[in-house]
Amino acid sequence: MHTTPTQPRCFALLPCAGSGSRAGGAVPKQYQPVAGVPMVRHALAAFRAVPRIARALVVVAPGDGALAAQAGFSVADCGGATRAESVFNGLNALLTQGVHTGDWVLVHDAARCLITPTLIDALIDACLPDAVGGLLALPLADTLKQTDDGGKVAATIDRAGKWLAQTPQMFRIGLLRDALAAHAASGFAGITDEASAVEAAGYQPLLVRGSARNLKVTYPEDFALAEAILRNSRP
Ligand code: CTP
Ligand code: MG
Repeated sequence: MHTTPTQPRCFALLPCAGSGSRAGGAVPKQYQPVAGVPMVRHALAAFRAVPRIARALVVVAPGDGALAAQAGFSVADCGGATRAESVFNGLNALLTQGVHTGDWVLVHDAARCLITPTLIDALIDACLPDAVGGLLALPLADTLKQTDDGGKVAATIDRAGKWLAQTPQMFRIGLLRDALAAHAASGFAGITDEASAVEAAGYQPLLVRGSARNLKVTYPEDFALAEAILRNSRP
């Protein structure tokens, strides 16, 4: 399907400004190699392989311009103290670059390097007809435990109807920017993904089934897992 100039366009925004404290390493995890390529490049390549994505913007930390240049893509160095702030700054950058408030944005963690064009297309297909937008997510498969903070189980929580939020998360840029702006004064407290800001603004994002492969590289052992999946899924 081709978009015409009269239709809203789709943009990708990759928050890539974290320090990767849980993953460790000499450089933040998103710049560490996975299958021989800096992690963020895998995510970027998936978006570049989707014809309906007009452009992808990577938001990096102000000090990371050189790392990003080494990784081989152009960026906005307006990353913030939190993921939400990085996204908020990136949305504002897009809006100063000719992107319209009615255009769509797909926000995607640089650390989810196993995203595929097929998953991106599935999210776009589901969200385009929707007024608000939605997110890739996975129904919770495991039994969910509440801890007492002393390493013991305090309760078993009913997993029925519970989903794990992934990215990309796709919303109208203006709606998402305004939803996040409402939390800027509080330092985006409690806003851990785009959908949570959109929900707080009174909307109900669409849950679109993602995939277990779309994991977020978080801990040191996740690199080997991501690498194995990437090498295995190559043609
Ligand atoms: N991110 C960002 N700006 C921040 C914090 C995070 O752009 N201030 C990005 C990360 O680079 C990552 C995504 O948001 O691509 C998801 O965050 P997470 O996996 O938590 O990465 P980090 O915050 O870097 O890792 P950690 O929480 O272990 O420090
Ligand atoms: Mg983090």
